[in-house]
Amino acid sequence: MSEINLYGKSFLTLSDFTTEEILYLVNLAAELKEKKKQGIRGNLLEGLNIAMIFEKQSTRTRCATSVAAWDEGARTEYLGGSEIHFGAKESVKDSARVLGRMFDGIMYRGFEQEIVEILAEHSSIPVWNGLTDETHPTQAIADLLTIKENFGKLQGLKVVYIGDGRNNVANSLMLASAMVGINFINCTPKELEPCEKMLGAAKAVAKENGGSVEVINEPMDAVEGANVVYTDVWVSMGEEAEKEHRIELLKPYQVNMPLMEATGNIASKDVIFMHCLPAFHDHKTKVSKECGALEVTDDVFEAEFSKVFDEAENRMHTIKAVQVATLTNP
Ligand code: CP
Ligand code: NVA
Repeated sequence: MSEINLYGKSFLTLSDFTTEEILYLVNLAAELKEKKKQGIRGNLLEGLNIAMIFEKQSTRTRCATSVAAWDEGARTEYLGGSEIHFGAKESVKDSARVLGRMFDGIMYRGFEQEIVEILAEHSSIPVWNGLTDETHPTQAIADLLTIKENFGKLQGLKVVYIGDGRNNVANSLMLASAMVGINFINCTPKELEPCEKMLGAAKAVAKENGGSVEVINEPMDAVEGANVVYTDVWVSMGEEAEKEHRIELLKPYQVNMPLMEATGNIASKDVIFMHCLPAFHDHKTKVSKECGALEVTDDVFEAEFSKVFDEAENRMHTIKAVQVATLTNP
C-alpha cells in the first residue's frame, strides 16, 4: 500500500487506476472520514486552488468537492458551464491551458467523456471526472466505501444494479465491482443493456480479480441472494426526451419491498439498498408529483437497510481522498 503514489494523476475513468490504487483510495477515504469525525481539521491541501466546471446540475458532487477541499485547506472556484467561455467562445483545449496556469486541480461534470479527456490532456494538472454521459467514477469509489463499511469486505459480495443498465452510474459501478472481485449483476431490459465494449472489458477484469459480471433481464431472478440492490434514476440528465418511454420500459424494474424480499437477505441483515441520488421515491418534487415513485418506492428508500445517505456523505470523504492522493506527493 505504501508504494502507491497517485501524485499528478487524473481520474477520468476507473481504468486509470489499478485495483490496488482503487482500494488505496477507499482506505484513504475511510482514514480521512475518521479524522473528520474526530474533529481534526487538516492542511494536506493548504494553498492549493481547485476549479469546478459544472455543465450539468449537481448537489452531492459539487458540495463534496468544495467541502473536501476546504477541510484540508484548499480553495475552490465554481464555474457554471454557461458562465464561462468553455467550448463556446473558446475551445475546451484553450480553456484547459488557461485553467492549468491558475489552478492545481479541476473537477469536471458534463456531457461527452471526450471533453474531460481534452481537459486532462491540455491542462497538465489533475482532472477528476465528476460525471459524464458515460461514466461516474468518483461515485463508484464512494459506493465501494459504503459497501465495505457495511460488510467489512468487498470480494465475493453479490451486487445487483437494477434499472437503466447503460447509464454512467451503471457503467462505473460495473467496472469498479469487477476490479475488486465483486459478483456483479446488471439487471436491465434488453434495450438498455451496457454496450458490448464496456461489458466485455468488465467481464475480463472481473475474471482477473475473482469476481464476475453478468446481465440478467428478469428482476426476481437477478436479486436472489443479493447483498446490495442498487438503482439510479431512469432518465439521466440530458436524456429528458426519453422520459415517457423509459418509465414504461423500466416499470417492472422498480425496487420495491417484494423485490427486496426476493433477495432472501433482509431478515439476516445481509442486504442493503443503495442509490447514488437524487431519487424519485414518492416525495414531492416537480417530477414525482406527476408520476409517484419511479425507480424506488418510499418504504425501501426509508428502510433501515437503505444506506443512501451514508453513501451520499461518502462522496465527500472519497473525493477528498482523490484530491489528497493526486495533489500531494507522499
Ligand atoms: N450522486 C450524484 O452525483 O449526485 P449529484 O448529481 O447531486 O452530484
Ligand atoms: N445517471 C444520473 C446520475 C446522477 C447522479 C444522471 O446522469 O443524471
